[in-house]
Amino acid sequence: MITVAVFDTHRFDREALELAAAGPAPGGAEEVAFHFLEARLGPSTASLAAGCEAVCVFVNDRVDADTLEQLAGAGVRMVALRCAGFNNVDLVAARRLGVCVARVPAYSPHAIAEHAVALILALNRKLVRASSRVRDGNFSLEGLVGFDLHGKTVGVVGTGKIGAVFARIMRGFGCVLLGSDPAPDTALSEETGLEYCPLPELLGRADIVSLHLPLNEATRHVVDAAAIGRMRRGAMLINTGRGALIDTLALMKGLKNGQIGAVGLDVYEEEEGVFFEDHSEEVLRDEKLAWLLMCPNVLVTAHQAFLTREALQGLASTTLLNLREYKGAALGRESGVADPLRWLVAPSGVAS
Ligand code: NAI
Repeated sequence: MITVAVFDTHRFDREALELAAAGPAPGGAEEVAFHFLEARLGPSTASLAAGCEAVCVFVNDRVDADTLEQLAGAGVRMVALRCAGFNNVDLVAARRLGVCVARVPAYSPHAIAEHAVALILALNRKLVRASSRVRDGNFSLEGLVGFDLHGKTVGVVGTGKIGAVFARIMRGFGCVLLGSDPAPDTALSEETGLEYCPLPELLGRADIVSLHLPLNEATRHVVDAAAIGRMRRGAMLINTGRGALIDTLALMKGLKNGQIGAVGLDVYEEEEGVFFEDHSEEVLRDEKLAWLLMCPNVLVTAHQAFLTREALQGLASTTLLNLREYKGAALGRESGVADPLRWLVAPSGVAS
């Protein structure tokens, strides 16, 4: 039996994890007992995991060195991320403390790619404004002019799993595709006609720029004032990657001076403590976010791109697999489980 403290639990997480864990464990694998917690993980909440062998965390849980030291001190040996990105985990500290870290590298890239497309369509055809106007009995079309996607140039920054699916969808609309990625996907290029070019060139040529690259020290603020200055005037910017890929102050300036025509954000630089919670009865303290929400050409969703039934099932089943592989390795039952895509700090170190 492996006991797992699940931080930042929402009803949809609980349902998916319980469903995945239901029924007998396959092939003699360990049973998994979840303890669901609403609190986000961080230095002040790490003690809630006492008595558990693993923690299961999401994008806004803070798994820094301080938190990891507390977790390790309380006997936690494994961090199971129920997401793909791992910018919130101090892997150096985890390695030092002998805490394994696994993630879910792929779970329906369609969910995120389709949400990016939903943001483009909703912004372009002003669906939110149109819908609230009609509900109010106002059937005027003033201010609702959009543009044909057909023939427009779409820049895909990061053509990995999600970026590739996004590129194929946009190709279906008849868009011209540009890509920027240090690891070009030649098969994708051949299939869709996507042309790789350096980021500055992509920014200068694209009508729509969509971010699908991971957040790390090299990509933080990859869209800064200089990058925004290179974009085509009036271009649309979509971010379903991670909030800190964009410098929010530079973005606001770009919106104010008209350099950026429209922005769709599923992620926000300072989303931690705001997204995933109901703040509807409070004054929004984040003035930058409040300002963005006031803009008619900005559409913000609260990190929901992953939120499809298929993606949740994929997240839950791979998380279970990771937990069971860890436990098997810790008991010395299995070897060679260190899938480099899933294991950021592999269990072999623990098993020895
Ligand atoms: P992936 O690893 O398959 O693809 C990422 C691609 O970005 C790779 O091809 C990599 O070479 C490329 N890349 C790295 N540095 C780059 C740079 N400086 N410029 C251009 N490209 C660069 O990852 P996947 O699954 O496609 O996910 C991408 C990101 O989407 C994740 O890292 C995560 O942050 C985000 N994400 C957001 C979700 C949401 O709900 N909003 C859900 C899942 C992932």
